[in-house]
Amino acid sequence: MNKSIDIIVGARPNFMKVAALFAIADEFPSIELRLIHTGQHYDEAMSGVFLKELGLPEPVCNLGVGSSSHATQTAQIMIGYEQWVNKSRPEVCLVVGDVNSSIACALVAAKMQILVAHVEAGLRSFDRTMPEELNRIVTDSLSDFLFVNEPSGIENLINEGVVQSKVHLVGNVMIDTLFRQLTEAKNRDKHLVLGLEPKGYAFVTLHRPSNVDDYEVLSGIVDQLIWLSNYMPVVFSVHPRTKKQLQSANLYEKLQGLQGIHLKEPLSYMDALSIMVSAKVVITDSGGLQEETSALQIPCLTLRDNTERPITIDEGTNTLIAGNWALFRKKVEEIEGGIYVKNKSKIQLWDGAAAKRILAVLETI
Ligand code: UD1
Repeated sequence: MNKSIDIIVGARPNFMKVAALFAIADEFPSIELRLIHTGQHYDEAMSGVFLKELGLPEPVCNLGVGSSSHATQTAQIMIGYEQWVNKSRPEVCLVVGDVNSSIACALVAAKMQILVAHVEAGLRSFDRTMPEELNRIVTDSLSDFLFVNEPSGIENLINEGVVQSKVHLVGNVMIDTLFRQLTEAKNRDKHLVLGLEPKGYAFVTLHRPSNVDDYEVLSGIVDQLIWLSNYMPVVFSVHPRTKKQLQSANLYEKLQGLQGIHLKEPLSYMDALSIMVSAKVVITDSGGLQEETSALQIPCLTLRDNTERPITIDEGTNTLIAGNWALFRKKVEEIEGGIYVKNKSKIQLWDGAAAKRILAVLETI
């Protein structure tokens, strides 16, 4: 008999992760994957284009929740997903990452005694001011299958008392998709369209509330980006949350007027990958980009105090800047001078086969 697995997506970073599962689903004929979209992200640039580019199927259900406060958004996803499950109960509910859609559906499924699988389990920033950290802790505590990207995840889960038999070190599904799409992304040469030299520019993304919701912090970052643009052109892909905050602080117009800064609407997955792969440095607060740059061996300066992905620092190309702008400038100068030294080892199990390991476990239930 076919086992049906609901694969939950909601926000932008979910799509490339689940694409790895759909890409190999044919190899597991006893499993039926059903794509459920919560509608947490709804703009074409934040959602629709990802479904198309990554070859994902039409969702069997779209809960259409949209944006609102955390409590309202989470509650609306729970109500919608419970209705779906009442109509069409799966054997497993699989959630990825740490967004509100993940915690909401995991909670519904666990209460309805449906097995919960969490992909990207065990990551911890130990910073409970981050909404994602709360989502991670609760989702993991509800999960029956904890699929872990990096060894720190196992250690964190064991320290929290999770039974070891639930934990599976499988590698990184986002890197599966990265490897699958890399050649096509490279062929796009998106930087040439923008008139930029390969390995001659910085790629910037920012969206964490801790960086963009506070005027002082945001204007401090903008000053550093302006400084950076004297060294190299800066391509800044502006998330809707960030755009709103830059506009209300009158910083968007300021950046728009500068020759060395290219402001872009949110880029599609393939365009972002194309820009990233030819960048000299990536400056970000995204978890995904910390991992992708490590896999691609591109220097990454992370504008955060902490990371839930320590392997990107220990074995990858990531440096945490933590508001230390003297360090930021030193690292930019090192990168510019070709002397930025980081480990360049291949990370264990980030090999393009994580999705296969996950479905091989779920096939046995
Ligand atoms: C969410 C995730 C975050 C993830 C990020 C990636 C949570 C708690 N946060 O944060 O972990 O890294 O997605 O983008 O789940 N908006 C649009 N169009 C859209 C979606 C959002 O304009 O399609 C605007 C809305 O004004 C909204 C704001 O962006 O208020 C923020 O969206 P929201 O989903 O609340 O959080 P993100 O900051 O995107």
